[in-house]
Amino acid sequence: MDFLIYSNHPRMKEFIIKSAFTVFDQLDELPTDVMSLMKDAVAIRKNAYAPYSKFRVGAALLLDNGKIILGSNQENAAYPSGLCAERVAIFQSGALYPNAKIVKMAISAASDHNTTNAPIPPCGACRQSIAEYEFKQESNIEIFFMGETGAIFKSDSLKNLLPLMFDKNFL
Ligand code: THU
Repeated sequence: MDFLIYSNHPRMKEFIIKSAFTVFDQLDELPTDVMSLMKDAVAIRKNAYAPYSKFRVGAALLLDNGKIILGSNQENAAYPSGLCAERVAIFQSGALYPNAKIVKMAISAASDHNTTNAPIPPCGACRQSIAEYEFKQESNIEIFFMGETGAIFKSDSLKNLLPLMFDKNFL
């Protein structure tokens, strides 16, 4: 991600933020370890508790100690009390292995209503939560996301997905 400063207007400055993604057209284009991680994310979708949205999300994390941590979205009749798959997974990771680093994250989402062909990115709240762990571990997390079928997008870091993020340096 870069910041381009344009200052040629006499009274106005602006900057443009660029984010770059790698696109894989299908699962078998992924590196072997990521393909396996994505298959874990797809498989764990079945454990989503999504009676309200019928939208099932799976997340799989690869840690630097070799462990794989899984999460699926867990909904609640009081809607905001539910939690996304990504945060279920990263909080589980932090709870079980507080000193391990998250190296890669794979996300897959599918609706019971229709087929999601587009890559489904993590929501804003999940991005903020994942950002916290990148700062904590002082290393990037590679994030791969897809729908039910179709292309997979890869971001080299969460920072790419959340420009101008709020972090501990502002406190
Ligand atoms: N959801 C996730 O699990 N991850 C996201 O990043 C987006 C949304 C879940 C929350 C809710 O259970 C359902 O998908 C519909 O929003």
